[in-house]
Amino acid sequence: METKQVFDAVANKYDLMNDIMSLGTHRYWKECLIDWLKPYPGMNIIDVAGGTGDISRRFLKRVHGNGKATICDPNSNMLKNGSNNIDVYEDCISRTCAFAENLPFENELFDAYIVSFGIRNFTDIQKGLDEALRVLKPGSRFMCLEFSKLENSSLAKLYEKYSLIIPKIGKLVVGDEAPYQYLVDTIERFPSQEKFSTMIKRAGFKDVEYRNIFNGVVAIHSGWKN
Ligand SMILES: C[S@@+](CC[C@H](N)C(=O)[O-])C[C@H]1O[C@@H](n2cnc3c(N)ncnc32)[C@H](O)[C@@H]1O
Repeated sequence: METKQVFDAVANKYDLMNDIMSLGTHRYWKECLIDWLKPYPGMNIIDVAGGTGDISRRFLKRVHGNGKATICDPNSNMLKNGSNNIDVYEDCISRTCAFAENLPFENELFDAYIVSFGIRNFTDIQKGLDEALRVLKPGSRFMCLEFSKLENSSLAKLYEKYSLIIPKIGKLVVGDEAPYQYLVDTIERFPSQEKFSTMIKRAGFKDVEYRNIFNGVVAIHSGWKN
């Protein structure tokens, strides 16, 4: 299944499925990312693979609308579904339909580049990271929230079992297993915390570090542009 077909298939139930499959915990994981970002008034962020715009809305809530968020995603259905969730801070949001590997923005424009549950879908992750560095202002930050590798092997086995039922839940809620089999496969293929840190450094980011949440079910990576 192609990435575009995957997200076309789930776009109108995307937010609901997120809640069901993560048992609501994606909300907590995203808040952890925003905590670590430490948003400040006037901050201008790009929310890449932003989909329905959950991260942008959380960021704008923290700065009480005193900031700017650009949601960038190649899937117009995901963007459209997000724009239906009209929000008090809608005026602070702009939406751009584009791939992370080729961002239609000038150099050194943003104070933070955020990608949440999106980078494992990039066709070329390293190219996406190079683009992240290009569009960030010097002294600003890259942050990525993504499914990752569990530290504890017994928990990893349990998680593997849970992964087997994810496509079945997908079938029940959106009527199709394939997009959720794609989800499981991309999570499996995604590099470990350490390997991904190396890729971020290779792109030119400094002071790269990561924090595991729930033993590494997800990890947040952070890096700085000099
Ligand atoms: C799982 S959703 C994440 C949405 C949102 N960021 C969140 O945390 O809920 C993944 C998004 O990645 C987007 N995507 C897929 N390939 C991409 C690429 N090459 N560049 C940017 N976004 C991409 C999809 O269209 C989809 O909206």
